[in-house]
Amino acid sequence: MTDISVNLWQMKLAHPVMPAAGPNVQDANALRACALGGASALVAKTISSVAAVIPHPNMADFKNYFLNTELWSELTAEQWIEHELPAARQLDLPLIVSLGYTAKDVAMLAPRVRPFADALELSTHYVGNDPKPMQDAVRAAKDAVDVPVMVKLSPFRDVHGTAIAAQEAGADGIICVNSFGPALGVDIENGGRLWMGGKGYGWISGPALKPIALRAVYDVARSVDIPVIGVGGISRGTDVVEYLMAGASAVQVCTAALTRGQNIYGKIARELETWMSKHNYQSIAEIQGLTLRHPETIMTEPPLLIRERCNGCSLCVTSCMYAALYLDEKKIHIHEERCTKCGLCLSRCPSDALQPA
Ligand SMILES: Cc1cc2nc3c(=O)[nH]c(=O)nc-3n(C[C@H](O)[C@H](O)[C@H](O)COP(=O)(O)O)c2cc1C
Ligand code: SF4
Ligand code: SF4
Repeated sequence: MTDISVNLWQMKLAHPVMPAAGPNVQDANALRACALGGASALVAKTISSVAAVIPHPNMADFKNYFLNTELWSELTAEQWIEHELPAARQLDLPLIVSLGYTAKDVAMLAPRVRPFADALELSTHYVGNDPKPMQDAVRAAKDAVDVPVMVKLSPFRDVHGTAIAAQEAGADGIICVNSFGPALGVDIENGGRLWMGGKGYGWISGPALKPIALRAVYDVARSVDIPVIGVGGISRGTDVVEYLMAGASAVQVCTAALTRGQNIYGKIARELETWMSKHNYQSIAEIQGLTLRHPETIMTEPPLLIRERCNGCSLCVTSCMYAALYLDEKKIHIHEERCTKCGLCLSRCPSDALQPA
């Protein structure tokens, strides 16, 4: 029996997959869709002391990455406190409320959202490189409420130093990461207009963000001893496995919900369970942090060839820049003396016919 439940402070979650702040959690209706879509907890879009005014257009999908130029919630704090959060509280799932940005904003908002919140997350996206304003915001939240306070990091800043500074200020958890940027997208079929409105800059999320976010989770999990929640490019169960192994305690999903719909949370959780069961892992604790404890990866021998698995596709041959691989009667062979142990062919093979020796 595979148990994919996780405990985050006082919250017992059926599985580690919840939404991340974005249009997928823009109001109570969107949060209801997340609950119906199988999320284990809810995260509300970032609320600040003034409603955001955002450029249009503000989102575009390019499959391997996604650009957005949204800010925080376009709803006022009053709308959230009087209507959206009370309705979201009825959904019978733990509710994390995202706040931004200054200590003054947080001191004003935190006590007002507290009746609905099981935890707070503080966005640092527009806070700058100096950790002091973030620390002041954490202290303001801790002074105002008795629920866990997490800090959400942005990947274009020093995540390691910011996480340590957040823990020192009293944060109970770290969320890695927000979108990366600024970035630019050009629409070549429409005279070279910029895909994003306003100044044209966008922020990258989706699959391209995953390795950056994973690195942040790995670095932060090694630097602090509070829970880390991973977010960035998660769209399937195996993505979650990577984040858990790199040290995350739970994960959040935004872009995959925007491109594949709000049922994605439950789908990812089911895929996680299937993968764990197939690999004989019985609990999340068994995989969490495995990468942190793994010895350094070293390749001292050429890859091991498992010829019966080779389908002769030649993907590895194309990618071996050292001409060490060749096909003979549609089966793979190697000139061992030419192999530099670069490792590329291991990731290119679609049928696991090449393994680390
Ligand atoms: C359109 C859009 C709006 C977002 N708005 C917020 C926000 O209000 N607050 C926040 O902390 N993060 C926001 N994010 C960042 C996401 O929560 C998440 O950290 C990031 O997109 C990486 O995850 P993903 O690859 O699963 O989308 C937004 C992302 C997108 C795509
Ligand atoms: S490890 Fe690198 S050099 Fe060796 S066979 Fe594979 S691709 Fe070629
Ligand atoms: S990539 Fe894998 S399956 Fe394709 S030829 Fe190479 S070893 Fe065979």
